[in-house]
Amino acid sequence: MELEQLARTINLIIVVMGWAAGIVMLLLFIMFLQDIFQKEHSVRRNFPVIGRLRYFMEDIGVFFRQYFFANDREEQPFNRLTRSWVYKTAKGMGGIIGFGSTNDMREPGTPIFVNSPYPQLEEDCAPSPCLAIGGYVGDQAFEAKRIVNISAMSYGALSSVAIQALVRGAGASGSWINTGEGGLSPHHLEQDCDRIFQIGTAKYGVRDEQGKLDDQRLKDIAQHVNAFEIKLAQGAKPGKGGILPAVKVTEEIAQIRGIPAFISSRSPNRHIDITSPDDLLDMVARVRDVTGRPVGFKTVIADGTYPERLSEAILRRGPDSAPDFMTIDGGDGGTGAAPQVLADHVGLPLSEALPIAVDVLIEAGLRDRIRVIASGRLVTSARAAWALCMGADFINTARGFMFALGCIQSLQCNKDTCPTGITTHNRRLQKGLAPRDKGRRVATYSLGINHELDLLAHSCGLTHAREFRREHVRIVQSAGRSIPLDQLYPYPHAGS
Ligand SMILES: Cc1cc2nc3c(=O)[nH]c(=O)nc-3n(C[C@H](O)[C@H](O)[C@H](O)COP(=O)(O)O)c2cc1C
Repeated sequence: MELEQLARTINLIIVVMGWAAGIVMLLLFIMFLQDIFQKEHSVRRNFPVIGRLRYFMEDIGVFFRQYFFANDREEQPFNRLTRSWVYKTAKGMGGIIGFGSTNDMREPGTPIFVNSPYPQLEEDCAPSPCLAIGGYVGDQAFEAKRIVNISAMSYGALSSVAIQALVRGAGASGSWINTGEGGLSPHHLEQDCDRIFQIGTAKYGVRDEQGKLDDQRLKDIAQHVNAFEIKLAQGAKPGKGGILPAVKVTEEIAQIRGIPAFISSRSPNRHIDITSPDDLLDMVARVRDVTGRPVGFKTVIADGTYPERLSEAILRRGPDSAPDFMTIDGGDGGTGAAPQVLADHVGLPLSEALPIAVDVLIEAGLRDRIRVIASGRLVTSARAAWALCMGADFINTARGFMFALGCIQSLQCNKDTCPTGITTHNRRLQKGLAPRDKGRRVATYSLGINHELDLLAHSCGLTHAREFRREHVRIVQSAGRSIPLDQLYPYPHAGS
C-alpha cells in the first residue's frame, strides 16, 4: 500500500515537472517570437531570448555595480554614462535626472558653463538659425540647418541598413550626412536630406580608371550633394589611407568604389596630387569650379605650422582661393579600422587642435570666410557646446550617431561581426537593425542634442547657441579650480 502511494507521488511529481518544463518552454518560445518580431532592440532581434540578459543586467546593474566597479565613468572610449546619455536622448527620454548629478565638477578638463543671473525667458529664446557654408565664388551656398551633424562614415565601414537609418534620421532632423570616403551609395539617396560628399585619398566614386579625379563623375555626384569635403586625414589614422577588410568588400561596394570584390581595399596614405597647401587650394578650386558646390577639407592637427602655411597661401593667392570650410578631427577620433599605434599616439586631441586652428584663422582675418567643423568625441551637448565656445561653427559626430543606432561599443567594427548590425555585412546580423525605427532614434538624438545646445546657451543669457564665445565656459584645471576659456586661450588680434 505504502509502495503504491510512493509510486503515485513520484508519478505526480513527474507530471508536475513535465508541465512546468512545458510552460517554461512555451514562455521561452513566446519570448523568442517577441524578440524576433520587435524592432526596437537590435541585440534582442539578433540574439533572441539570450539577448534579454543584456537589458536585465543593465537594469539590475544600477543596484549592484557599486559593489564590483569603482564608478559609471570608467570604460573607454565612451563611459557608461556618456553612452546612456546618448541612448536616452535618442529615445526621447533624456534630459531630466533625479536626486542630483554624479558628474564631479572638480575633475580636470570638465567644462563649466557660465550661467547668467538673468537667463533668457522662454518667450525670448530662439533655436539656432541656419548658417551658410560657401557661396562666395559662384558656388551655390549650402544653408546648413543644424549645428550637430553626422560625421563621415563610409558605406562599407557601415552596413546598408545603418546608412538607410542615418539618412532617414538626417532627413527628419535637418542634420547633414557626410558620405565618408567610400562614395555615394544608392542607400544614401533613399531619403531626401542634406549630404556632404567626401573625396578620400583613393577618390572612390569620383575617379577615372587610373585613379585620378574625374570631372564628369564630380558633376554627376554634385546633383545629389550640397558640398564636397577633401579628406587629408582622419584622427584615428593620420597619414594612413582607408582600410576596408576583404570580408567587407561585397560585390555592391566594389561596384560603387570601382575596385575588385572580396580583396581588401587600401587607399593611398595621401592624395597623390596634394603635397603642399597650394596643391590643396588647386584641388579646392577645381572641385568648386566643376561642381558649383562649396568645398572644404578635413584634417588632423599636430602643431600650428600646417594651418599657418595654409593661411599664408590663401592670403598670397587671394580670399577667393579659400576653402569654404575646414573640418578639424581630434587625434582620438573613431574609425572602422585603423592601426592601433596611429589611433593611440598620433595627432592632437580636439581640445588642443581646435584652439590652434581657430586662432590661425582669426589672426589671418579668415575666420568669417572659412567655416570650422569640429569632430572628436563630441557626442554630448556639453562637449559640443565647449567646441562652439572655442570657435567651431558646426559639430560632426560619428560615434554619437552610432550609439543612436544602437551601438553597444563592442569594438568589432573591423571584424564584420558587429552584434548590432551597424558595421557588418553579415545579413543575419543586419536583420537586427530596422532602418525605419532606428532612423527615428537618429532624428530624435539629432534634435535632442541640438536643442540642448540652445538650452545651455539660454542658461548663459544668450538667445541661441551660435552666440557662444570663449568667456561662456570655464575649464577645470588640475588643482580643481576652473579658469575661463578666454584666459586659457585669449582671443588673438584679427589680421595680426
Ligand atoms: C565606423 C567609422 C567609420 C569612419 N569612416 C570615416 C571615413 O570614411 N572618413 C573620415 O574622414 N572619417 C571616418 N570616420 C571618422 C569620423 O568621421 C570622425 O571624424 C571621428 O570618429 C571622430 O568623431 P566621433 O568621436 O564623434 O566618432 C569613421 C569613424 C567610424 C567610427
